[in-house]
Amino acid sequence: MARAFNFSAGPAALPTEVLEQAQNEMLDYAGSGMSIMEMSHRSKIFVDIAAQAEADLRELFDISDAYHVLFLQGGATGQFASIPLNFTQSGDIVDYVDTGSWSKKAIKEAGKYCNVNVAASSADSNYNYIPELESWQLSDNARYLHICSNETIGGVQFKAFPNSSVPLVADMSSDILSRPVDVNQFGLIYAGAQKNIGPAGLTVIIVRKDLCGTARAETPTFIDFAVQAEADSMSNTPPTYGWYLAGLVFKWAKAQGGLAAIEALNEAKASALYNAIEASNFYHAPVVANARSTMNVPFTLANADLDAAFLQGAEERGLFNLKGHRSVGGMRASIYNAVSLAAVEALVAYMSEFENEHG
Ligand SMILES: Cc1ncc(COP(=O)(O)O)c(C=O)c1O
Repeated sequence: MARAFNFSAGPAALPTEVLEQAQNEMLDYAGSGMSIMEMSHRSKIFVDIAAQAEADLRELFDISDAYHVLFLQGGATGQFASIPLNFTQSGDIVDYVDTGSWSKKAIKEAGKYCNVNVAASSADSNYNYIPELESWQLSDNARYLHICSNETIGGVQFKAFPNSSVPLVADMSSDILSRPVDVNQFGLIYAGAQKNIGPAGLTVIIVRKDLCGTARAETPTFIDFAVQAEADSMSNTPPTYGWYLAGLVFKWAKAQGGLAAIEALNEAKASALYNAIEASNFYHAPVVANARSTMNVPFTLANADLDAAFLQGAEERGLFNLKGHRSVGGMRASIYNAVSLAAVEALVAYMSEFENEHG
């Protein structure tokens, strides 16, 4: 069966092996005569799946006992509200760094609950860089410092993280599992699953235990980290099928050699694409070199009138979902873990062909 070269920003490509396993287990999981989707989240089979997924994620990131790992609903957008509700009281100050569309949304939501200090912003240059750490105007008394490790729309990625005196909170929705990260640097990491982890509907949260338990009184129970941690993320019905698929993806990631091996492949994929763009006078990558994302590669054509022809030719060659976000225009190739080097090479070959014809 032919699988498309799928450059979608999310929901995005998943490893074929994972989908095949899910297919094989769809109607009858381990002789139970049931699909995972049809089982109670409190059944032994599901509780074992859930625990194994958590154990595998802990192994991938070497997550210590000082952290809870939660598997919740609500997407990353839900966390934009959950985090201030769990970590602040009314009137508290929080620091946010504004590096693009997703940071901006997180800032806007946090502003409903607390006083947001935008410590740094790259809005002055259309979000094509990460502001130098030395320039950040941090508050004296912030409850936490929030960053978006990878801006999915702008294609801007932190290559190193600040040493923060207050808990560092990171939206890693679009680059979690793409590289090793020292979890101990963070108070909380969150990610919507639908890029590198699994299907939409699941949100993974890695949170330092000592930061939980002081949510505002009005915090909805199902988003109270302490309540969910106490209930093993089952204070209400968790997204069971997404959790199961995430578990398969974590096993797949381990089989690839873990996060260092995955990072090496992601670097190779990203370099192939950025080098092709750099080598041409026809394509342009707007992001400054030291902040270019290995996951989302935006680029423009010399003449935007050719965009539609580029996209049509791409689809004819089995290359899908390359249209840039409506707020940015141009193209964007999302090259998450499950997008192969062969897919990137096919894109690079097509770009060269298109440039020869139209450049
Ligand atoms: C970096 C980032 N943050 C947040 C979101 C919002 O996630 P969700 O749609 O799961 O709420 C996205 C979605 O694509 C994203 O890429």
